[in-house]
Amino acid sequence: MPCPVACRFLIRERVHSGLAAVRQTWHKLVMTNSCTLRLTSTSPEQTAAIAVRLGAGLGAGDVVLLSGPVGAGKSLFARALIQSRLAALDRFEDVPSPSFTLVQTYDLDIVELWHADLYRLTDPHDVLELGLDQAFEEAICLVEWPERLGAFQPASALHLTLQTTDDPAFRALHFSAVDPRWTGLLSKLAHSQHGPT
Ligand SMILES: Nc1ncnc2c1ncn2[C@@H]1O[C@H](COP(=O)(O)OP(=O)(O)OP(=O)(O)O)[C@@H](O)[C@H]1O
Ligand SMILES: [Mg+2]
Repeated sequence: MPCPVACRFLIRERVHSGLAAVRQTWHKLVMTNSCTLRLTSTSPEQTAAIAVRLGAGLGAGDVVLLSGPVGAGKSLFARALIQSRLAALDRFEDVPSPSFTLVQTYDLDIVELWHADLYRLTDPHDVLELGLDQAFEEAICLVEWPERLGAFQPASALHLTLQTTDDPAFRALHFSAVDPRWTGLLSKLAHSQHGPT
């Protein structure tokens, strides 16, 4: 017996809402309430490509805290991100490691970008002397060894932990944030193609 119009409509609605529920569940799996995302990389180029995609969405007041053991790829990530933002302004500059200067700054015309490596920071209060607390409010900040910040870690920051394994070219990248400002950007990162752009 042919399905009456109202019945067909009901079935279509159920299929539609079913698909929406599946999409919603999938979205929640990828982007939980606390806003987390796991990506993997099998080469320095892949890690750099993820950095470039994240960097394209960063603006004033965005702080990315880069954690992970020595050689995990924190500097590689920061360098790729900085160079891509400079290249967008037709500028091609060296991005030296700030491990001795602690901080390197870049003028991106509309916003400053601060790259900090706090490995050698002994007293978290030196953060104030470096002007980092102000930069956290106004600039884009990429911070290696953020554990050294102690209580000065901004609550709204995006945390990225790079994990190494026995495979020397493999990295797991774990992004997490409590501030909902990161949801959109992490969602874009989750949906973008995983590989060099
Ligand atoms: N998948 C990968 N992603 C990132 N780096 C990788 C990967 N595979 C290999 N590497 C290598 O790992 C090294 C990462 O060095 P990098 O200086 O970025 O580490 P780091 O975390 O900043 O260390 P440090 O704590 O000493 O500052 C580079 O030599 C890079 O080529
Ligand atoms: Mg480094």
